[in-house]
Amino acid sequence: MKIIAIIGARPQFIKHFPFEKACVDRLDLKTIHTGQHYDENMSAIFFKQLGMRKPDYMLNVGSDNHGAQTAKMMVQIEKILLEEKPNGVVVYGDTNSTLAGALVASKLHIPVFHIEAGLRSFNKKMPEEINRVLTDHVSSCLFTPSKIASANLEKEGLVEGVYEVGDIMKDLVVYVEENELLKPFKEESYYYATLHRPYNTDDDSRLRYVLDSLNSLNKKVVFPIHPRTKNNMSVFDLNIEKFTNIEFISPQSYIDNLSYLVHSEGLITDSGGMQKEAYWLNKKCITLRTETEWVETLIGGNNILLFNDLSTLDKELVTVGENWNEELYGDGTASEKIVSRILSY
Ligand code: UD1
Repeated sequence: MKIIAIIGARPQFIKHFPFEKACVDRLDLKTIHTGQHYDENMSAIFFKQLGMRKPDYMLNVGSDNHGAQTAKMMVQIEKILLEEKPNGVVVYGDTNSTLAGALVASKLHIPVFHIEAGLRSFNKKMPEEINRVLTDHVSSCLFTPSKIASANLEKEGLVEGVYEVGDIMKDLVVYVEENELLKPFKEESYYYATLHRPYNTDDDSRLRYVLDSLNSLNKKVVFPIHPRTKNNMSVFDLNIEKFTNIEFISPQSYIDNLSYLVHSEGLITDSGGMQKEAYWLNKKCITLRTETEWVETLIGGNNILLFNDLSTLDKELVTVGENWNEELYGDGTASEKIVSRILSY
């Protein structure tokens, strides 16, 4: 069976690693990299560090407005799919690359296999929510990480081809732990922070407020800075030197990022993936959003949502979560289950 996987943004390189491993000797896998993310430390570093195969196709689409970016991807993906005639297309998560791949494949009547299906934030202002909903509705197999995700699909009338397999990102965390790949940092006590969502970074006063709040925490904050955030800081004249309690570092590779997280005293983030990684590594997480699609992480206060008032950040970071569940989002074998399902499709 020939399968084409579409990747393009940082979290998709991570999700692709366990899938690629699980495909060996079972599926003929080819990969299209749309080029949505293109900086060395937003893309190539993941392939190098994890020892992944180079993508078969590099589209080099780059950054643009959503319509233009998605359209450019679609034009090129269509040409490749017409030539390659795969038996199925795998898409991951909720980025513009996900939607581009799903739309093109479904219109060519090629089955779409959506990994990380059924997630909902119920916030249509997030481009990711639109990407998720549309992708789920054109997919033939919907691989969900949890019962809640499967139930979300059922409420939208999607019951055929839904398989609860656990979360593919957990496969990778389990792999890193089993192979003892985490780096031993000797760091002073610090919080770790990441920020890239448009609603936290595209508005001058909001970004200023969040950075000021991090700057006044009672522990140092280590902050790998996403290109979107970095660009906006420069546009808004927010000088890095002004934030003396924040150590800004460049975006980190997968293992370095996880190592920073594991040695931290807690995480402050608006990322989807890092909420889960903090949970699995049993780190307190404060999510700077009004809602999350990873609702299970909120149980027992292991993850807390904070948005308008960040004055309680210090207090929330030291409040210990309860009822931590080792089995949350599966047992680290999602990719194996997905490949078996695709083979029997
Ligand atoms: C995208 C995804 C988001 C995901 C995130 C992970 C969508 C709609 N959003 O958001 O779901 O959580 O990736 O990082 O698909 N840029 C660079 N170099 C790069 C990539 C981006 O400088 O390698 C800058 C550009 O100015 C670009 C901006 O970052 O315009 C935003 O990039 P984009 O891919 O549009 O969205 P993200 O915020 O990264």
